[in-house]
Parts: sequence; structure tokens; C-alpha cells
Amino acid sequence: MRSLLHSLALLVALLAAVCHAVHPVEVQGQNFVDTVSKKRVMIIGVDYQPGGQAGYKPDSGEDALSNGTVCLRDAALLQQLGVNTIRVYNVSPKINHDECASIFNAVGIYMIIDVNSPLGGESINRADPASSYHVGYLSRIFGIVENFKGYPNTMAFFAANEVINDLGTVKDNPQYIRAVQRDLKNYIAKHSGRTIPVGYSAADVRDVLQDTWAFLQCAIDGDDNDLSRSDFFGLNSYSWCGESADFQTSGYADLVTTFGDSSIPVFYSEYGCNKPEGVARPFNEVQALYGKDMTALSGGLVYEYSQEESDYGLVNINDNTTVTLKKDYDNLQDQFNKLDISLIQSTTPSATQIKSPECDKKLITNSVFDSNFTVPSPPDGAEDLINNGVDDATQGKIVEVKETNVPMAAYGSTGVQIENLAIHPLANDESNTPGGENTSPSGSASAAVPSPSKKGDASRSTGGWTLAVCVFAAVLTLL
Ligand SMILES: *[C@@H]1O[C@H](CO)[C@@H](O)[C@H](O)[C@H]1NC(C)=O
Ligand SMILES: *[C@@H]1O[C@H](CO)[C@@H](O)[C@H](O)[C@H]1NC(C)=O
Ligand SMILES: *[C@@H]1O[C@H](CO)[C@@H](O)[C@H](O)[C@H]1NC(C)=O
Repeated sequence: MRSLLHSLALLVALLAAVCHAVHPVEVQGQNFVDTVSKKRVMIIGVDYQPGGQAGYKPDSGEDALSNGTVCLRDAALLQQLGVNTIRVYNVSPKINHDECASIFNAVGIYMIIDVNSPLGGESINRADPASSYHVGYLSRIFGIVENFKGYPNTMAFFAANEVINDLGTVKDNPQYIRAVQRDLKNYIAKHSGRTIPVGYSAADVRDVLQDTWAFLQCAIDGDDNDLSRSDFFGLNSYSWCGESADFQTSGYADLVTTFGDSSIPVFYSEYGCNKPEGVARPFNEVQALYGKDMTALSGGLVYEYSQEESDYGLVNINDNTTVTLKKDYDNLQDQFNKLDISLIQSTTPSATQIKSPECDKKLITNSVFDSNFTVPSPPDGAEDLINNGVDDATQGKIVEVKETNVPMAAYGSTGVQIENLAIHPLANDESNTPGGENTSPSGSASAAVPSPSKKGDASRSTGGWTLAVCVFAAVLTLL
């Protein structure tokens, strides 16, 4: 009897782990690829940092993924919006993120995690990179790997963000970014059960952009397995502004020319210009980004979920913890709903085999840009840390998502309350897609009729099968 109970308990635990898990993603040439379906993964994403930088309070145990109730609320709204990925900037290696990661996983949303933070000693100092590259810093970023490696929806890590942001920062920093990437990938290879891609997020400063990408994507001595290479290149792009911009005038066409033959995936790690001010963003660039002219890019993430000082929000988070959608949310949802998702998902990875160029001064166009491809050696103590792992690391794992109904109210852009706001866990092998929903109730009357959720229906009809497959998989694992 005891062993039967034990088996049952194990079965339940396995069910939670096996079911409702997105497939990990890997890099093949220019594309992100689903490791199971082998289909190309296009990032349809939103940057997520409620509270802005000030929301990162590691001393009081708070960061963007520390509160399951908050994540439940936001995951419900992000799922309806239609995104499959969030980027999270500032997280603590010591905080337990299981609830939040599991909620996002259940609704088919990947996470791209920045390993750094704005606090002292938690990032590379662009003014003096050598001084900030020490074992204490490495122990923080390896702690982030430990914390997030166990979640299947951890899509990738950003090793650095906008370290190179003008001509004054193009010496030395590129080499240190490669050093950090090498160390992270060495650590992942030793301590993670799967590869997790590691790359860089660049400022869209056209003076330095092409050289930054050329420096980070090339292979030292022609070795494609050179660990210091970026696995992907994120670009923070704000050049498409307002109703009148188009593919040419926004400079998107130039970016396609620059990155068309990239040997690694390129995507917008931030986009969504907020000019002209005071007007909801129309997000017309969405059709270009996922259209036939830009298949070289792997999609992007809109900056950003919540309204903060910088004025880029899709939603307002109210003091009483409710959320009110901005018109920007509705506009973005309309744009996502227009995408031909099955076409996007069925895009054959065209360029899986572009060989990365061998690192050479010739690749660098600007004479002041770093062209020393000797990557700095790891600092004292790094080898021990990589071999033996971080002490007392907090290691995340997927937990059962028990609550699906959002306990606090949320309001559409006209102020009408959204009825029955909840997450809809997806079947085992799915990532989230735009579902044709309009989240903001129409009109300003109080009696809003909730529209039937396509996602809810879909998961109800496939739920039985999913459960059967999951039970079968779990029983097999037990035998
Ligand atoms: C999580 O956030 C909710 C809503 O803001 C709050 O009521 C609750 O106290 C928070 N939980 C914890 C553990 O901080
Ligand atoms: C919460 O605050 C918002 C904004 O101030 C307000 O519109 C809403 O009615 C409040 N909701 C609750 C449940 O207190
Ligand atoms: C190139 O960088 C390495 C450190 O990564 C340094 O030791 C070496 O002196 C540099 N070479 C030149 C010519 O500056």
C-alpha cells in the first residue's frame, strides 16, 4: 500500500512536470527551432518588468517573477494578447520563481532572462569592463542559470544589454561580452541538462550596430563551436514611429540588408517607438516584422507590458493591484490577430546552415571599433566555480498550477471590467498564439457579455487526449 501511494504521489508529480510544458528551443543557423516539432519558432513577445527597475528589490525578496498572484494576472492578459515570449530584465538568483515560471509555462509563454541587474557588481561596467569582470560577478550570473535552467520555458539568456552604446564604448567591451558568453556557456554545459542559448541585446545605434553584430557572431579561428560567440543577436529597435512610417522610411529595410545573411538568429529584443507622444501606438510595424520581407528576423518583443516612467506601457497597473488596459494593448492585439500564424509557424527554416565568418579585422567597418579577437581569460576562481558549481544555489522547478482564475479585477481600455479573467493552460506541446480575441469589452456600458474564449474551447476539446498522453508518458517513466 505504501509503495502504491508512493507511486501515485510520484505519478502526480510527474504529471505536473510532463504535462503543460512547452518544448525547449535551440538555435540552428539563423533560426530558433522547437526541439521536438523541429519547426521554426518566431518570437511574438512583450518585455515584462512591472515596477520598472525599481521593481527589483532582492533584499525584500521581490522581483518581476516573485509573486504568483501578480504573474497569474499578467499571464492571463498576455495570453489573450497572443504572445509566446516575455523578456524579464532584473531577477534575483536567490528568489524562488517556481510559481511564476510554471504559470507562464502552462500558458505556453517562453522566458528570455537577462542575467544582469542595475545593482552594483551585477553587470559589466562599460566604463571599465576589466574591473567588473570578477568571480563575484560570475557567481551571480551562474546563480541565474541555476535558478532558471530547470524550467522548460527558459528560452535563452541575455549575457549583456546595451553595454556598447556609442563610439566611446567600442574598445574592450566587445571582448568582455564574449568572455561572459563563454563563461555562461561553459557553466550551462557542465550544470544544465540541456543547452540554453546565450546572446546579446544591442542598442540601435547605427554607428556601432553592424560592427557589434559582426564582432559577436564571428567564429574565432573559424571554429563554429567557439563558446564565446553569441548564439543570437537581440536588437532594441525604435525606428518605426507613428502612423506614417513604413518599411523603407523606418530603416527596417536597411536592417534586413545588414542582417539578411546573419549566421545566428536576429530579433528585436525591444521595439515599439512611442512617438508622437500622447497617441496610442498603432503598431503597424507588426505586419512588416512578421511579413515576407523580414523572414530573416525571428520576430520581436514589444517594450513593454506595464506603464512606467518611460511611457511605453500596454497596460496601467493600478495601486489597488487591478490592471487597466491602454488602447496600445488593443491595437497590438488587433495587429497580432491579423498575422497568419500557421504560415509563420510553417516557414521552413531557410537558412539553417549559414556558416559563421571567421573573426577578422576585415569584418569591422569602423577603425575605432575593437578588432582584438583575443578573449580575456576567466578571472581568478572562475575555473573552480565552473567546475564545482555555485554553492547553495536556488534551483527552480515546474510546480503544479492550481489556480487559474485571476483574483483581482482588470478593466478594458474603456474602463469596463473584463469578465472571467483566467489563464487557460494549453496542451502539452503548444506555445501560445494570437487567438482572435478582443480583451477590452466593447462600449462603455457596464453589462459586458464575455466573448467565448477560443483558447478555452481548444484546450477543453483536446484536454482529454492531453491527459491520456501525459498519464501514458508518466506511467512509462515509472516502469
Ligand atoms: C502578491 O501580490 C498581491 C497583489 O499585489 C499581494 O496582495 C500579495 O500580498 C503578494 N504576495 C506576497 C507573498 O507578497
Ligand atoms: C482600483 O483602482 C482603479 C484605478 O484607480 C479604479 O478604477 C478601480 O475601480 C479600483 N478597483 C477596485 C476593485 O478597487
Ligand atoms: C588583445 O586583448 C588581450 C586580452 O583579451 C590583451 O591581452 C592583448 O594585449 C590585446 N592585444 C592588443 C594588441 O591590444
